Amino acid sequence: MNLTELKVIFEEKFQAGDDIRTYFAPGRVNLIGEHTDYNGGHVFPCALTIGTYAVARKRDDRTIKLFSANVDKVGVIESSLDDLSNKPEYNWANYPLGVVWALKKKGAEIKTGFEMCIWGNIPNGSGLSSSASLEVLTGTVLNDLFALGKTMTELALIGQYSENNFNGCNCGIMDQFAVAMGQKDHAIFLDCADLSYKYASVKLPNAKIVITNSKVKHSLVDSAYNDRRNESAKALADLQQVCGISTLGELTDEEFEKYGSAIKDEVCYRRAKHAVAENQRTIKAVEALNNNDIKTFGQLMNASHISLRDDYEVSCEEVDFLVETQWSIQGVIGARITGGGFGGCTVAIVENDAVENFKDVVGKSYKEKYNLDAEFYVVDIGDGAKRIA
Ligand code: GLA
Repeated sequence: MNLTELKVIFEEKFQAGDDIRTYFAPGRVNLIGEHTDYNGGHVFPCALTIGTYAVARKRDDRTIKLFSANVDKVGVIESSLDDLSNKPEYNWANYPLGVVWALKKKGAEIKTGFEMCIWGNIPNGSGLSSSASLEVLTGTVLNDLFALGKTMTELALIGQYSENNFNGCNCGIMDQFAVAMGQKDHAIFLDCADLSYKYASVKLPNAKIVITNSKVKHSLVDSAYNDRRNESAKALADLQQVCGISTLGELTDEEFEKYGSAIKDEVCYRRAKHAVAENQRTIKAVEALNNNDIKTFGQLMNASHISLRDDYEVSCEEVDFLVETQWSIQGVIGARITGGGFGGCTVAIVENDAVENFKDVVGKSYKEKYNLDAEFYVVDIGDGAKRIA
C-alpha cells in the first residue's frame, strides 16, 4: 500500500475532490529509559520511518466517518461529533474518536465532522507505538483541517489524555511525544518531569539499530501496565515519608540506597529500584552517546534489560530468549526489550557487518525454540508527525 493507493480507497469510500489532504505520523522505538516516563524520569526514544498515513477532509455535517485499510473487515465506522463514546464495535476507531473527544474537552473548536482513511505499517501491539501514532496522526489532521493552532507538544499531551481517559490505558507521555516531536537521525532526550528535551544525534557510522519483533503479546497488557504504575506510586508514597521528593526520577542511586528501606512492600521496592536506576542509566547513556562511546551505551542497554526483567518484571520468556541470544552474538553492542513490555519487540545495536548473521542466528534459534518467525527491522530514524500534501 502507498499513499496513492490509500487516496483511491478514500475516494471509493467517500468521494473524490480537490479538498483532500494527506498526513503521516511515525511509530517510535525507545533506545533506553523504560517505565521512567510516568515516574518523572528521562527517556530516549526516536521516531521511525514506518508509521501511519491518513487521507482526510472536512464534512459539512456533524458526522465523523473513519476507515482503516488495515482493519477493512469492520468497514466504515460512523459517529456523531456530538455523541463521542468508547464502544467495542468502534474497534480501532476508538483511538481517533478519543482524540476528537479529548480535543473538544480541552476546548478546541471542531466545527464540523470529517472523514478519514488510514493505513499503517507498524506491527500492532508490538511496542512500537502503533496507538500513539494513530492518536498523534488524528491530532495532526484535526489541528490542520480546523486550524486549531495547537503545538506538537500539545498534540502529544492530547493523545496521552485521550489514551488515559477514553481508552483506559494509563500510559505516560513518551510515545506521543516521540511521535509528535521526532527528528530525522536524532533521538529525543526527554525529561518527563517538565517536558524539557534535547535532540541527540544518533551517529552510528559502523552500526545499525535492529528491532526484532517477538510476535508475542501476552494478554492483559494494559492492566499489567497499570499495576506497575500503581506499584511505583505506592513506593513513592513510602519514600515521601522519609525524603522530600515528588517523583522517583528525582533520586540518585545513592539516595535510593539511603532511603529505599522506607518502602514496605518488597515488590514495590523492586519497582522503584528499577525506576531510579533506569533513569540514571538513561542520563549516562546519552552522555556516552554524545561522547561517541557506543560501547558504554550498549552496556547500559543490557543493564536496562536485566532490570526490566528482574525488578520491573515486564519481560517474558520469549523476549528474554531473544535478548539473551542477541547478547551472545559477535558484533552486538547492546540489546534490550523496548516499549511497555509483556512481549513485543527488542532493540539492538549491531555492527554493520554482523547484521545478516544476527538475523540468521536469532531467527533460527527462536524458530527452533518457540516455532515462531521473528521479524526484523533495520530501522532509520525519521521525522515526527506532519501534513504531507
Ligand atoms: C508504553 C507507554 C509509555 C511508557 C512505556 C514504557 O509504551 O505508552 O508511556 O511508559 O510503555 O517505557
